[in-house]
Amino acid sequence: MDHYEIRGGTPLSGRVEIHGAKNSVLPMLAATLLNHGVSVLHNCPNLSDVDASLAILRHLGCRVEREEDRVTVDAASVTRWDIPDHLMREMRSSVIFLGAILARTGQADVSMPGGCELGPRPIDLHLAALERLGAEVEQQGGRLLCTRGDRLTGAEIDLSLPSVGATENAMLAAVGAFGCTVIRNAAREPEIVDLARFLRSMGAQVRGEGSSTVIVEGKTPLHDAEYRVMGDRIVAATYLSAVAAAGGEAELTGADPSQFSSVLALLRQGGAEIRCRPQSVHIRCVQKPLCGVGCIRTAPYPGFPTDAQPVLMAALCRSQGTTVFVETMFENRYRHVDELCRMGANIRAEGRVAVVTGVERLRGAPVQAHDLRGGGALCVAALGAEGITTVTGLNHIRRGYASLVEDLSALGAEIREVNA
Ligand code: EPZ
Repeated sequence: MDHYEIRGGTPLSGRVEIHGAKNSVLPMLAATLLNHGVSVLHNCPNLSDVDASLAILRHLGCRVEREEDRVTVDAASVTRWDIPDHLMREMRSSVIFLGAILARTGQADVSMPGGCELGPRPIDLHLAALERLGAEVEQQGGRLLCTRGDRLTGAEIDLSLPSVGATENAMLAAVGAFGCTVIRNAAREPEIVDLARFLRSMGAQVRGEGSSTVIVEGKTPLHDAEYRVMGDRIVAATYLSAVAAAGGEAELTGADPSQFSSVLALLRQGGAEIRCRPQSVHIRCVQKPLCGVGCIRTAPYPGFPTDAQPVLMAALCRSQGTTVFVETMFENRYRHVDELCRMGANIRAEGRVAVVTGVERLRGAPVQAHDLRGGGALCVAALGAEGITTVTGLNHIRRGYASLVEDLSALGAEIREVNA
């Protein structure tokens, strides 16, 4: 079985460019359907979730070209409005295509997205938002059939939760709706801001992104667009955690530290030295190990991001003191805990709470990734462990890390991919 082989114990040192943000580029690829022309995205990461999105666009009739980190989508002739099961299953977040397909073709036929490793992933807020715009949604045999997309009308949408995906679906459908849409209690994540900027680059009228109220004036004439995707703040958090776990120092470029300031604050609290510039972060961890940082609750942006919970937990396994995690966003986001305990970590997880009691040392062991960021966490812990760790479940890791082996090797880590 393909696996990473990591020999821990070497302090890291060096410089790494952070690749484009997965959770920005996925909704942007859906948004290319709104423009009956050519959209070009730069800094598009090489991820399996991106490949799955490109396959969906091709299935719908788009011409898609990829050259290194540049993706070109020509959506002049979209001839289908369905996403077949096998493509829906390849990417949990393919529901993000729903609003764009509906706005472009007037209808949509997609399978209900299953749950994922993190637990059930309801889409009730997505569907309620589309219905507020006038769509008709019917569930039949595990599929979602949406119609009346050619008559979407701007509306006031009040989200009961600041859902990232529901905000994105509402924004994309609203671009194709007659009149003005106001989305209240919208998600404020940086990826929402990035999406809004991309939509404006194609001529859409979107404002308020980054606040809790996003306003879209629909049916403005759209044109060809070219845009550079922001750096991935969770990949940056992963590499910062790797330095915190292994010791040493690193310069991360290509990501905006203001987008993950909550992570930086906790690393500083744990004893790391952090210096920020507009598009780079320098971290230095000479005092080893980190000290515990009290209680960390995950929350919608600008709170501490749930996607960084696993990797920061891994960095705190070897620490002086205790850290309590409260995972408020997903009900099953501690599957990395058992694997970390196999390496000698002392973690008790009960429901949404995980108590990490720092230990002096971790030992390399064979461990398995059960989800994307949990896989990143195992690699982080392995870098601070004595001996060899083998990490399987690379299919999860490849969803969100385009160059983990290359990047960590550039920082001096002893890591290699072994293909069975
Ligand atoms: C996005 O997922 C991200 N995915 C997730 O990253 C991230 O963890 C999450 O936002 C939170 O920041 C992408 O952007 C592709 P939500 P999303 O809707 O949109 C509940 C990764 O692998 N909810 O903000 O699915 C939901 O159950 C992923 O990179 C409803 O109840 O997250 C959750 O408890 C992991 N009904 C909470 O809201 C709905 O209709 C937040 O979910 C929608 C969501």
